[in-house]
Amino acid sequence: MAQIALFDTPAPAFQPLFLCGDALRVLQTLPSASVDCCLTSPPYWGHREYESAGIGLEVDYTDYVQALVQILLEVKRVLKPTGSLWLNLGDTYLDKHLMGIPWRVALALMDYGFILRNSIIWNKLKGAPDNSKDKLRNLHENIFHFVKSKNYYYDTDAIRSKPRASKVQNGKVISATGVSGVRYKRQLELSTALTTLEKQAAFIALERVLNDVTTGAISDFRMVIRGQQRTTHSDQQKVSGRAKELQQKGYYFLKYHPNGAKPSDVWEIIPEDTQKRQTHYAPFPEDLCRIPILSTCPKNGVVLDPFCGTGTTMFVAQQLERQSIGIDLSAAYLEIAKNRCEK
Ligand SMILES: C[S@@+](CC[C@H](N)C(=O)[O-])C[C@H]1O[C@@H](n2cnc3c(N)ncnc32)[C@H](O)[C@@H]1O
Repeated sequence: MAQIALFDTPAPAFQPLFLCGDALRVLQTLPSASVDCCLTSPPYWGHREYESAGIGLEVDYTDYVQALVQILLEVKRVLKPTGSLWLNLGDTYLDKHLMGIPWRVALALMDYGFILRNSIIWNKLKGAPDNSKDKLRNLHENIFHFVKSKNYYYDTDAIRSKPRASKVQNGKVISATGVSGVRYKRQLELSTALTTLEKQAAFIALERVLNDVTTGAISDFRMVIRGQQRTTHSDQQKVSGRAKELQQKGYYFLKYHPNGAKPSDVWEIIPEDTQKRQTHYAPFPEDLCRIPILSTCPKNGVVLDPFCGTGTTMFVAQQLERQSIGIDLSAAYLEIAKNRCEK
């Protein structure tokens, strides 16, 4: 199917397009395969009222799941084949039962053909006080990364943390964390767990890796030698490729990517309170938007948030030079969002 461009030419200063109305109805007016990435946080079931209308107020949780899934399937239609959906959802207790709402939605979306790539734990670090005496305090929310097809857009390098550079010590290049190879060489010399041939091969491999540090092909490394370092993987060769390497060669290397480390699926981000919770209950932290937008929307691409509230997604998309479309039922929130992006 031909792809229709929502933005023929980039809007000035990446000004977002704001559309007021019910997410499902507005989405139905958008062209298919026109959006690169959708990042959204719908109202959670039974949590609070946004102008006493909209999704989240259903009496039965199954109605909420169904209504939300219907909207997100419309998102699927407007996503390009290479597109991604990032969905942030919190859970709800009902009569002592933790309802598992985020996963109920996620499983339904998978049944409708969305591919789940990551289930991210957002560790909020700071939480509301919890006076209950029979359960733990809740401090996390879920963020799911779904894709429309296996052949999706993903820029890993855009989200790597800045690598620590190697340094020079006594005229020799050593790794960022001070690994010079001297200790490994000594361990190899003294090893009784490696044969002479294995030791020779390990020395040659170590010299090669040290050369990679000097040339900047890798930023850092660790060497694991049979009988020396404690391993965290299984010892069974069937289960672990590293156990197999250790068994067959007597050593292996952990090499650090020269462009820095990839973020994990646990994100530690303090919830946003720059809005002071007077105008809106639950704005996104800006930091939460960076990885989804940088990794799954190319520059000049289009980001969508069908529950955009005060427009955090649009604001970050604009800063990162992406086009964006924000939808919300509330004209008042959209006014805040517009002002935020025009500043
Ligand atoms: C959790 S808030 C989103 C907050 C947003 N991420 C921000 O940073 O401000 C959910 C938003 O969904 C909107 N909403 C609720 N039902 C809706 C519907 N059916 N269609 C569109 N927006 C809806 C609410 O007005 C609210 O602003």
